[in-house]
Amino acid sequence: MKFFLDTAERDEIQRMTELGFVDGVTTNPSLLKKAGAPYQQVLQEICALVSGPVSAEVVAEDHAGMIAEGRELAAIAENVVIKVPMGSEGLRAVRGLREHGIDCNVTLVFSTNQAILAAKAGARFVSPFIGRLDDVAQEGMQLIEEIVQIYENYEFESELIVASVRHPMHVVDAGLLGADIVTMPTRVLEAMFQHPLTDIGKEKFLAAWRDVPKA
Ligand code: G3P
Repeated sequence: MKFFLDTAERDEIQRMTELGFVDGVTTNPSLLKKAGAPYQQVLQEICALVSGPVSAEVVAEDHAGMIAEGRELAAIAENVVIKVPMGSEGLRAVRGLREHGIDCNVTLVFSTNQAILAAKAGARFVSPFIGRLDDVAQEGMQLIEEIVQIYENYEFESELIVASVRHPMHVVDAGLLGADIVTMPTRVLEAMFQHPLTDIGKEKFLAAWRDVPKA
């Protein structure tokens, strides 16, 4: 089970990388806007911090524009993966970018059919947005369950990235279903370390240690 950080905040990425929990990073235009520096510089800095794949998203709306933008982004660093929006133009761009040896992450996936098409187009990664489905009262994890099963049935090589993760239970559920990767905001990864009984237990042991006879 791999963990990607869904952020463009370099300080957060550095902190979590030092802890050894960052297998990759995903960004999108909203996250790059928050980062508040030229996107090329931000991506370069992220790619220098992380050896795994770093997704950078194209914003062109036709396949030719996506391919051109994707090639520019891929030139930033060796580990850049191009995030392409789901759709006929996006999937055409996936095939085109593959011809240039560039890997893609198909984003904004909200149905099992879309995930099947993305795999057939040769996407290295496919990103269903489960939190946004939960937001509209559709069971995001149901989608993950179906995709995991179908990718197994046909031995599709695409790796599933569970995206739009909002809380640590999403990580647990993704693990139970056997999803390859979870991309999460830093606060979700940080929350995974925490349990109130751990804090209480530590305090009790420290208090006891104060009264342990010492030579
Ligand atoms: O990786 C996709 C993610 O950035 C979208 O998350 O919270 O905006 O639905 P959210």
